[in-house]
Amino acid sequence: DEPRALPRDLEGVHVVVSAGGTREPLDPVRYLGNRSSGRQGYALARVAAARGARVTLISAHTMSLPVPAGVTVVNVSTAAELRAAVHEAAPSAEVVVMAAAVADFRPAALLEHKIKKTEGAPDPVVLDRNADVLAELVENRRGDQVIVGFAAETGDRGSDVLQYGRTKLRRKGSDLLVVNAVGDGRAFEVEENSGWLLAADGAETAIPFGSKSQLAAALWDSVSELVGRAHA
Ligand code: CTP
Ligand code: CA
Repeated sequence: DEPRALPRDLEGVHVVVSAGGTREPLDPVRYLGNRSSGRQGYALARVAAARGARVTLISAHTMSLPVPAGVTVVNVSTAAELRAAVHEAAPSAEVVVMAAAVADFRPAALLEHKIKKTEGAPDPVVLDRNADVLAELVENRRGDQVIVGFAAETGDRGSDVLQYGRTKLRRKGSDLLVVNAVGDGRAFEVEENSGWLLAADGAETAIPFGSKSQLAAALWDSVSELVGRAHA
């Protein structure tokens, strides 16, 4: 899977990677979640560590994945916990990659007791908005920190996946945005990924269909160029 000799281009660079999907509790037994497996984030952490980086992996819920060698893992569950852990780690990081699928909304109330199946129509679930961690990172950016976002898009009649990605990159203000097409057995819960790597300077690179490690390698190539430029 990783045939070429790995460059040591991230030697001594502190990178923070968030991975997996957050869960927003509704009652003691139920939550709102998403289909993120954590595989892409874990591949990013593993490849970065293999290239010499000091890696902090903020891990929300994942399939049971092995902890990559030499990586410090911080386990979180909700978007609020993920937000706190990312902001705790980010100030000392040169690079932050938000690969986690962070819930946009949470149930407005966490019920103390399990919701019972009573007669008649169920109560609607009222949601509150969660903070946008990536937007906060960009807002509080430390010097020449490199900030990377991920976007999983299905496209629709109004706009295609790449167009949504371009708009999202501008809106988010990150240095790089990885855009994956989802649906049809793509991106979620699978071993492979493809998409585009969009840079704030307008550069657009297609990422061919391949393993999540290959996507990770392509992303770290671009990140290490940006880190090198910042320190040149
Ligand atoms: N993200 C975040 N905090 C959130 C939601 C998303 O940090 N509360 C990050 C994700 O980790 C990802 C990027 O923002 O790196 C893009 O997430 P996405 O869900 O595609 O963007 P949204 O702005 O939430 O737009 P929408 O879901 O409406 O497409
Ligand atoms: Ca979202």
